[in-house]
Amino acid sequence: MSDLVQEATLARENAVAPFSKYKVGAALRTADGKVYRGCNVENCTYGLTVCAERVALLSALAAGERKFTAIAVVTQSDEPGTPCGPCRQLMWEYCGDIDITLANLGDRRIEYKLSTLFPHPFNFRPEE
Ligand code: THU
Repeated sequence: MSDLVQEATLARENAVAPFSKYKVGAALRTADGKVYRGCNVENCTYGLTVCAERVALLSALAAGERKFTAIAVVTQSDEPGTPCGPCRQLMWEYCGDIDITLANLGDRRIEYKLSTLFPHPFNFRPEE
């Protein structure tokens, strides 16, 4: 198992998913090799649920990280789950065309570049 998938598998154990029972773990690697973990956190309104990918990304951004190379996402499904649309948009904005590994709890792995999953991004950048 790759290190990043292993980190995402460990992150998944902290998932707070009492409603869907669908636990997700993510591990985001920075350009200098640090790893930030995230898990999905659900909420009784359902709508305020935050995905594992966004928890990992926001945690890294809050720690001051700005350059990323890869993310692994682990789900319990037979076929590894793919990131939702809002996560794809945020990853594109803050990580660029990173490597994405989607994995299940067994040995199924799917590798993508983000641009394959999110081909026509919204790219607005405010003037600095
Ligand atoms: N979820 C993630 O954490 N990441 C995804 O890419 C898709 C969905 C979570 C949200 C919710 O807690 C559960 O999976 C079921 O949708």
